[in-house]
Amino acid sequence: MLLTRRIPSATFAKLQAGADVDLYDGPTPIAEVELKRRLTDKHGLICVLNDRISADVLAAAPNLKVVANIAVGFDNIDVTAARSRNIVVTNTPDVLTNATAELTWALILSLTRRVTEGDRLVRRNGWKGWTLDFMLGTELRGKQLGIIGRGRIGRAVAEKAPAFGMHAVFAARGGRSAADLPEMSLDELLISSDVISLHTPMTAENRHLIDRKALARMKRTAFLINTARGPIIDEEALAWALQERLIAGAALDVYEREPEVRPALLEMENVVLAPHLGSATRETRTAMIELAVDNALAVVRGRPALTPVG
Ligand code: DGY
Repeated sequence: MLLTRRIPSATFAKLQAGADVDLYDGPTPIAEVELKRRLTDKHGLICVLNDRISADVLAAAPNLKVVANIAVGFDNIDVTAARSRNIVVTNTPDVLTNATAELTWALILSLTRRVTEGDRLVRRNGWKGWTLDFMLGTELRGKQLGIIGRGRIGRAVAEKAPAFGMHAVFAARGGRSAADLPEMSLDELLISSDVISLHTPMTAENRHLIDRKALARMKRTAFLINTARGPIIDEEALAWALQERLIAGAALDVYEREPEVRPALLEMENVVLAPHLGSATRETRTAMIELAVDNALAVVRGRPALTPVG
C-alpha cells in the first residue's frame, strides 16, 4: 500500500497491521515520476487532493485495486481511467460535512462583518477609534442565501441559515428537482440572492460556472463564497467583477491554481482568503483519514469499499 502523506500514529498502526505500507513523507507533494515508480508493485494507494492520479499514473500501476482519496472531492483522480482498469476509487463523504459548513459560515460572517479587514487595520496601527460610521458591514437577518449544489454540504450550510435569520434557496440545475428544498433557477438565484455559496463538485460542466456573465447577474450588494473547488469560479472574471464593483465582496477557501492566489485578489480589502481549510479540524481530519484507510484495507482484502465514488 502506498501512502502519500504521514497520518496519525494510531491509524498508521491499523494500516500497517493490514498491509505492507510504503510511506512517502517528503516535504512537498510526491512528484509524478516518484509516484509512478512506487506504484509499480502496489495494490492500494491512499492519497490526498493535491496528488494528481492521472490515466498515465494509473497505467504505471498494473496491480492497483484501490485509490482511496482523503477528501470528499475526487477531481484529482481520473475516475474513468480507474474504472476501465477495474480500480475502485473511494472518497470521504459525510465525515467532513459539518466542518465545511462551519467554515462556510465563518467566511460569510468574516466577509459581511469585515472581520479580517478590521484585523489587518488594527495590526497595522490604523485604527483611530470608534466612530458612528466606521467600517460598517452588512447584516444577514432577513437576507437570502443562495446555495449552488444540493449535496450534503450545501444542505448543512442551509440548515444553519435560520440561526442568522436568513432564508436559504437552492439552484435547480438539471437532474431531478429536490422536492424537500426551496429551489429556483440558477439565473433567478444569481439575481435575487444576498449571499451566494458554492457547494458543487468540480466537474467539466461546473468549470467556470461563475463567469463574467454570472457575476454580472448578481446584486451589486451581494457576496460570493467558495468552499468547493477553485475552478468553479473564473478567478480572472471575479477580480474584474470586484474591481468594477459589480459585487460587494468574496470569500474564498479554494483557488484555481492552489496554492497560488491571483495577485489582484490579494490587494482587495473586500476579499477574505483562506488556505483551503474546509475540512481542517482535528476531529474531521482524523475521521477522513480513518475512512480512507478503512476503504483501502477493505478493497485489498477483497471486500466492498465503504464509500466508493460513482
Ligand atoms: C475535500 O475533501 O474535498 C476538501 O476540499 C478537503 O478540505
